[in-house]
Amino acid sequence: IHWPVAGQYARVWLPDAEEVWKSAELIKDYTPGDLTLSLQLEDGTEVEYKVDPTTDKLPPLRNPNILVGENDLTSLSYLHEPAVLHNLKVRFIDSKLIYTYCGIVLVAINPYEALPIYEADIINAYSGQNMGDMDPHIFAVAEEAYKHMARDEKNQSIIVSGESGAGKTVSAKYAMRYFATVSCSSGEANVEERVLASSPIMEALGNAKTTRNDNSSRFGKYIEIGFDKKHGIIGANMKTYLLEKSRVVFQAHGERNYHIFYQLCASSHLPEFKPFKLGCADDFHCTNQGQSPVIDGVDDAKEMSNTRRAFSLLGTCDSDQMEIYQILAAILHLSNVEVKDQSADRCSILPDNVHLMVFCELMGVSFEEMAHWLCHRKLQTTTETYVKSVSKMNAVNGRDALAKHIYSRLFKWIVDSVNNALKSAKKQHSFIGVLDIYGFETFDVNSFEQFCINYANEKLQQQFNLHVFKLEQEEYMKEAIPWTLIDFYDNQPCINLIEAKLGVLDLLDEECRMPKGSDDTWAQKLYNTLLKQNAHFDKPRLSNRAFIIHHFADKVEYQCEGFLEKNKDTVNEEQINVLKKSKFDLLLKLFEDDEKATSSTKKLTGISGRAGQSQRDNKKTVGLQVRCLIIVCVFSQIIKVLTLYTPVIEFEERVSTSFIATIENLLKGRVESSTLMIDTKKIFSVTLPFTPSSVSLETIQIPASLNLSFLTRI
Ligand SMILES: Nc1ncnc2c1ncn2[C@@H]1O[C@H](COP(=O)(O)OP(=O)(O)O)[C@@H](O)[C@H]1O
Ligand SMILES: *[C@@H]1O[C@H](CO)[C@@H](O)[C@H](O)[C@H]1NC(C)=O
Ligand SMILES: *[C@@H]1O[C@H](CO)[C@@H](O)[C@H](O)[C@H]1NC(C)=O
Ligand SMILES: *[C@@H]1O[C@H](CO)[C@@H](O)[C@H](O)[C@H]1NC(C)=O
Ligand SMILES: [Mg+2]
Repeated sequence: IHWPVAGQYARVWLPDAEEVWKSAELIKDYTPGDLTLSLQLEDGTEVEYKVDPTTDKLPPLRNPNILVGENDLTSLSYLHEPAVLHNLKVRFIDSKLIYTYCGIVLVAINPYEALPIYEADIINAYSGQNMGDMDPHIFAVAEEAYKHMARDEKNQSIIVSGESGAGKTVSAKYAMRYFATVSCSSGEANVEERVLASSPIMEALGNAKTTRNDNSSRFGKYIEIGFDKKHGIIGANMKTYLLEKSRVVFQAHGERNYHIFYQLCASSHLPEFKPFKLGCADDFHCTNQGQSPVIDGVDDAKEMSNTRRAFSLLGTCDSDQMEIYQILAAILHLSNVEVKDQSADRCSILPDNVHLMVFCELMGVSFEEMAHWLCHRKLQTTTETYVKSVSKMNAVNGRDALAKHIYSRLFKWIVDSVNNALKSAKKQHSFIGVLDIYGFETFDVNSFEQFCINYANEKLQQQFNLHVFKLEQEEYMKEAIPWTLIDFYDNQPCINLIEAKLGVLDLLDEECRMPKGSDDTWAQKLYNTLLKQNAHFDKPRLSNRAFIIHHFADKVEYQCEGFLEKNKDTVNEEQINVLKKSKFDLLLKLFEDDEKATSSTKKLTGISGRAGQSQRDNKKTVGLQVRCLIIVCVFSQIIKVLTLYTPVIEFEERVSTSFIATIENLLKGRVESSTLMIDTKKIFSVTLPFTPSSVSLETIQIPASLNLSFLTRI
C-alpha cells in the first residue's frame, strides 16, 4: 500500500466506535514524519488524526469510487477490513446483492428474507457456465464443483463456514438442490428426492432455536454426494459430529430443545401418539427451561407431519417411526422424574412416580430396577463390588446424563439409517462433499462445546489457508514467478496449544483419569504448564477457573466448570444394563454395538492402547473423538490433494546461491514472523522462523546440508 504523493488529497477510513469505520478526506498534505493528519469527515467536521510515531501507521485508504461495488473483492486496489465491509455493504444495501467473490471464495450475506434468486430457471442459467462469467452465486460455486467433478474427474469439497445464523445450512442446502437438479438422474428412482428428504429429519433432531437463530443446527455435518460415471447422483453419505448433547437437558433463556420434542408435544392429541401420554411442551422440564416454546411463523404440528413424511420417503416404515417417537417421548418423561432427598448421600424416587412409570413403560424396562439404579451406583475395588446410594444431586445429574446418552444414541442410529437409505447399490465413481460446520462461537459464557467447535474451526482455517495458498501458487506458476512470499497467519501455534503433548486436551484427558481430578485442579495444571510458555494462552485476572485462548478469530474465555464431566461423558453403566433388557428392538439396537463401535474408532485413528490400558481406552473421550473425526474423515481429501505435491526431490537444486540472495533481499526489513514461503514449482510451505506447517511436515524434509540458517534470523 502506498500513500499517495503529496498534493493529492487521499480519502481514508477512520476507526469509529459506533459505525466501526468512518470515511474521511485529507485536507492538508502529509509528509512522512508528521505527527498528525488533518482530516474532514463526510458531514463536514474537521478532525485531527494522531499518527503513532513508533509505527508510522496511517489509516487505511479508501478505494476509488469507480471500484466500489465490484463483484470480486480481489479487484479492489486496497483490500483491508473497511474496504471489504464497505464493498459488501454497498452491494447489499444498494442492489440487494448478497453474494460477492473474493477470489475462489464466495462471501454470502444473510438477507433474512426470501429472495427470488433460487428458482429452477436460475439454476438452468448457471448450469454449464464459467464461474467468472456469471454474477456471484452459490449456484456458481456448485456449478464449478460439478464441472470439475464431471469434466476433470476430480472429487470436490465445498466448505461452508461462518458464525451461527450466517446462513450456512441454507447455503449448503441450495448447493445440494443444485446438484439434484443438474445431474441427470441415472435410473434409480428419485435418489435426489431422498437426498433432499434427509434434511427435514436432521433438522428435526439436530436443530433448535437459539438466541441467534430460530433454526440453528447444533451439530456439524459433512455430506458426500456420490455420482456415477455419467455424473448422475446415485447416493449420499453423511457424517455428523459434535451434537450438542447438553441441550437435551438444559436450555438457556429464550432457547429451545431440539425441534422434534416440540413437534411431538404439538401432535400429542393424535390417536397414534396417545400412548405417549404427552401434553404441551410447557409441562416438561427439558422443554420449558428456556420459557420460549413457540417459534414465530412455525407450526410444530405441521412440522411433525413433514418429519414423518421425510422418514417415510427414506423408507422408515410407520412402526419403526413409532419406536423412534416412543423413545423421544420417554426422554421427555424422564426429564420430569423427581428425586427426593433423604439425607446428605441418600435419595429416592417414590414408587408411584408417574413420569418414571411412563418412561419405563415406553422403554419396556422394569420400574424397580430403573428407580434403584437412578439412586444407586455400583462401585468396584480390586477385591469387591458394592452398591452405594448417591446424593440427590448425583441422582439428578445421572438422570440427565442418561437422557443425553439415549438421545445421542438415537441420533447416531438415525444418521446410520438415513445413510443406509441413501446408499447406492451401484459403484460410486466420484463425489462432491459439502461441509456445513458451526462457525467460530463466542458467548458470554463459553464451555466445552464452544471449545470443541472453536478447535474444529481452527483446524478448518489451517486447511483453508494451505488450500488457498496452493491455488495462489498455481497463479504464480502461470506467470513464471519462481518464488514468492505471502503474508500468512499461521495458526499452528494455537493448534499445538490445544492438541500437542501437555496441551489443553492432553491435560484434560489426564485429569479425567485422576481419581480425584476436578475442574479446579485441571485449571491449576493449565496455568502451571501453559501460562508462562505459551503466547496463545492466558488466565483471566479475576478468575481461577477460566482460561483464555487466542484463536485466529478472537480471544475466547472458557469457563473450566463442567469440562471434566463433559469430556468423560459417563453414564451409570447399570442404568444402561437395565435398558439393554428392554423388550423393544430399537432400544436393543441402540445399545448393542457398544464394543464394536469403540474398536472401529480405534482402527480409524490408529491409536493403539498400550498393554493394560485397554479399559481406559474404551472410555474414549469426546476430545479424542473430535480429533479423530475432523482429521480423519472430513479433511482427508483436502490433505491428500495437498500432499500430492512433494517438494523434496528438486528442492536442493532449486535452492541455489542466487535463490538465497533473492530471498535475503525479499526478507530485508521484514519483521513478521508468520510468513509463508512458497516454491511455485512444487508446493512448499514454510513459515518463518523455519517451522514447516503441519500438513507438509511429513513430506517436507529440509536437507540438513543446506545452510538456511539465515532464514531464522527473522
Ligand atoms: N440465502 C438466504 N436467503 C434467505 N434467507 C436466508 C438465507 N440464508 C439464511 N437465511 C435465513 O437465516 C436463517 C439462518 O440461516 P442458517 O443457514 O440456519 O444459519 P447457520 O446454519 O449459519 O446457523 C434461516 O433460517 C433463514 O431464515
Ligand atoms: C429450518 O430451516 C430449514 C432451512 O434450513 C427450513 O427448511 C425449515 O423449514 C426450518 N424449520 C423450522 C422449524 O424453522
Ligand atoms: C474419488 O472418490 C472415489 C470414491 O468415492 C474414488 O474411488 C476415486 O478414486 C476418487 N477419485 C479421485 C480422482 O481421487
Ligand atoms: C551458514 O551461513 C551463515 C551466513 O549466512 C554463516 O555465518 C554460517 O557459518 C554458515 N554455516 C555453515 C555450516 O556453513
Ligand atoms: Mg446451521
